[in-house]
Amino acid sequence: MSKQSKIKNKIQEQYGKIALADGSLSCCSSSAGCCSTSETVVSPIESSKTVGYSQNNLNSVPQSSILGLGCGNPSPFALLKEGDIVVDLGSGAGIDVFISANIVKDKGRVIGVDITDAMLERARKNAEIHGYQNVEFRKGDIEEKIPVDDNSVDVVISNCVINLTENKLKTFKEIHRILKPNGVGKLVISDVVTSGEVEKEIIDEGNWCGCIDGALTKDNYLDSIKKAGFTYIEILEERPGNVVKDDNESIDKHTRKISSITVKAFKN
Ligand SMILES: C[S@@+](CC[C@H](N)C(=O)[O-])C[C@H]1O[C@@H](n2cnc3c(N)ncnc32)[C@H](O)[C@@H]1O
Repeated sequence: MSKQSKIKNKIQEQYGKIALADGSLSCCSSSAGCCSTSETVVSPIESSKTVGYSQNNLNSVPQSSILGLGCGNPSPFALLKEGDIVVDLGSGAGIDVFISANIVKDKGRVIGVDITDAMLERARKNAEIHGYQNVEFRKGDIEEKIPVDDNSVDVVISNCVINLTENKLKTFKEIHRILKPNGVGKLVISDVVTSGEVEKEIIDEGNWCGCIDGALTKDNYLDSIKKAGFTYIEILEERPGNVVKDDNESIDKHTRKISSITVKAFKN
């Protein structure tokens, strides 16, 4: 099996476990292996507040959609309007889908896309129990093909997911494909960046799932967005994170600073 397939399997295994764990696997628990820029083990609610969710945000969504897996809070930066068509990539249990759905209301629509079956099930159950009519969750691998039509989306949001894809440029090109043209469509994405990327040969699958080994430097991240065809690229927020100590001799200086950014860009 190729390294890429192994990573994809591991992602689905790890995030599947989190989806089934009913909140008992917090983001930073060692067995969870999920994304966080904080070193401290906290509850999903506390973890979400740390990365920018307000208590109002958290009260407004199904509580079972809050898993503490994000590294920012992209929706408020997206300045969503009633009627907007929104896509959330790597939607997990749906937290950002539900926050967005409350704003775009019945005239709009929010589509969550995720690769992990158990996450999709949890998100769909959340939508059903809480009577959301304007949301939908689709299965897809966002770096292969986002299951959404060309030129059809007002805003693409995503929270701590693109770093988990191997080919970031391909992922950003897919995002570009589905957004409406002529300066209408935009992306607003929170994600993890690093002070030092890891060579392919020494990638650790667990660290990749934990949003460490797949992270790009900020410059390379912004460059991938630009190469995919986006314009007016702007960093809206930056949060310093923790420092990862590496045992592997090949990793320069044996430490990497992990931080998170929220970035906006437009499709012309
Ligand atoms: C760190 S979690 C973030 C979940 C959600 N955005 C949140 O903030 O709660 C990453 C999510 O991305 C999904 N994911 C990872 N790689 C993916 C891919 N290539 N395509 C679609 N979803 C992916 C995982 O299944 C998981 O649900």
